[in-house]
Amino acid sequence: MKIVGLTYDLKSDYKFKEGDPEDANAEFDHPSTIDVIAKAIEANGFKVERIGNAENLLERLGSLKVDIVFNISEGMFGRNRESQVPVILEMAGIPFVGADALTLGITLDKVMAKKIFIADKIPTPKFFEVGSPEQLSQTNHHRFPLIVKPRFEGSSKGLSESSRVQNKEELISQVEFIVNTYKQPALVEEFISGQEFTVAIIGNEEPEVMPVVQIKIDGKLQLKDKFYTFARITSDRLEYICPAKIPADLKKSINELALKTYRAVECRDFGRVDFRVDKEGRPYVLEINPLPSLSTEDVFKLVAENVGITYEDIIGKILQYALKRYNLN
Ligand SMILES: Nc1ncnc2c1ncn2[C@@H]1O[C@H](COP(=O)(O)OP(=O)(O)OP(=O)(O)O)[C@@H](O)[C@H]1O
Ligand SMILES: [Mg+2]
Repeated sequence: MKIVGLTYDLKSDYKFKEGDPEDANAEFDHPSTIDVIAKAIEANGFKVERIGNAENLLERLGSLKVDIVFNISEGMFGRNRESQVPVILEMAGIPFVGADALTLGITLDKVMAKKIFIADKIPTPKFFEVGSPEQLSQTNHHRFPLIVKPRFEGSSKGLSESSRVQNKEELISQVEFIVNTYKQPALVEEFISGQEFTVAIIGNEEPEVMPVVQIKIDGKLQLKDKFYTFARITSDRLEYICPAKIPADLKKSINELALKTYRAVECRDFGRVDFRVDKEGRPYVLEINPLPSLSTEDVFKLVAENVGITYEDIIGKILQYALKRYNLN
């Protein structure tokens, strides 16, 4: 029986420091998510060896007996944090599920990712980057509304109702908040009103694009000024609709763009692409997540069931795609 190591970061492993925002450990998983993933791997006929985070991995590296690692570790600090476990595994010659360090680093940094999208003609909201509020006082021609996000965070960290700004004063204060709280530049984007979608993809040479999921906020599909904030993630104000009931041409362009984005950053085994679609029906890629949440509350279970397979099946498929890449299946 093959042994699958499991690398992850638990919310409880994060030690809050003074000055940390309340969402500092938002990307990390609940023990229940790790249990569910471990059970799903076992249901596919593997033995699971729980490893934990990058530090735990380093401690055990010399004596680790696993055939492959299922990595969902988010890492602790900085824009290379998601790359830490993959780089250690690569150095040790241990196969692992999911994207490699380069893809994880480039996509966690949204500015880097957007430069790739632009080079590959993947539509993404217009943007600029601001390292400090002082840089803003020199420029005066902004097209509001804009949205201000941290440059390298996920899980909607740093996003609240104030992230959407309508004038220069609000822009300055939100940039100040991001730079001071998250200790990184702010990414300022044109705000796309309209609708929001997310697309899960699994596989490699011929990736499987899963059904489009639409995000409903406060019971509305036409979101206008509404968007996904940190507070909404855990509230019942947010719903996933799967499959999205949208015109065939929009579905086609979203699917094609999702696949193009997955390939552009060389995702492996699984990933998820987030979109906004403006009032005229034009889709924009917000970001790609090569390490999307596999929590049963999130979209992977939903899309699996929509195509008639179980959560355990989709985890099994992701694992099989990885094993195949290494000729281990
Ligand atoms: N340019 C934009 N226009 C409108 N809404 C946006 C824009 N950028 C981000 N948002 C809103 O903010 C949410 C989070 O943004 P984004 O996906 O870039 O960050 P994230 O924190 O990495 O996301 P996730 O929660 O998926 O990890 C989006 O789902 C969307 O609702
Ligand atoms: Mg997102």
